[in-house]
Amino acid sequence: MSTVHLIDHPLVQHKLTLMRRKEASTNSFRRMLGELSTLMAYELTRDMPLQEIEIETPLETTTGKVIDGKKLVLVSILRAGNGFLDGMLNVVPGSRIGHIGLFRDPQTLQPVEYYYKMPDKMCERDAIVVDPMLATGNSAAAAVSHLKNRSQPKSIKFMCLLAAPEGIATLQAAHPDVDIYTAAIDRQLDDHGYILPGLGDAGDRIFGTK
Ligand code: URA
Repeated sequence: MSTVHLIDHPLVQHKLTLMRRKEASTNSFRRMLGELSTLMAYELTRDMPLQEIEIETPLETTTGKVIDGKKLVLVSILRAGNGFLDGMLNVVPGSRIGHIGLFRDPQTLQPVEYYYKMPDKMCERDAIVVDPMLATGNSAAAAVSHLKNRSQPKSIKFMCLLAAPEGIATLQAAHPDVDIYTAAIDRQLDDHGYILPGLGDAGDRIFGTK
């Protein structure tokens, strides 16, 4: 079974609490999401492989370790996942970006893909799939399935801001190889699939559409 990593750094928890407040403006919500994604990306990239290269300091030749940011692909689940990207790119600016768009078929209630675009050479890349809210887990599980079937990245991690226990269970059952990184595990879902206590509709709050 995959591991759920709770990122409980005080700075992450502080900013998350400010974001949850209903009076947070679109501007401050977006700014705090950017800061949080930078901090979370720092934790997610903790185990990234390093390679040793030779460099010259002003005094002598030595070796140092570098990461290959180009091997990383951030996969945004549209549209709220896009709110994570700029903050994460502060830490890993060489990352490539992929997008997956899904909508829920009103008849079958199953997620249907309407957009899929990934960089090339995905089999050489480690993927971080991002979506602020892991609610039912259906979109996350479907996005990871599409990614595995169509692009076969080297590894996959999933990053969100808030996770509901239901979403964690769904994603873990479908993809026991995908670790989940979250800033909080909330209580439950309401009847409409919103996370409680949550922060509302992440897409609306990022883009100011409500
Ligand atoms: N998506 C959201 O934006 N918010 C929720 O609470 C659940 C799903």
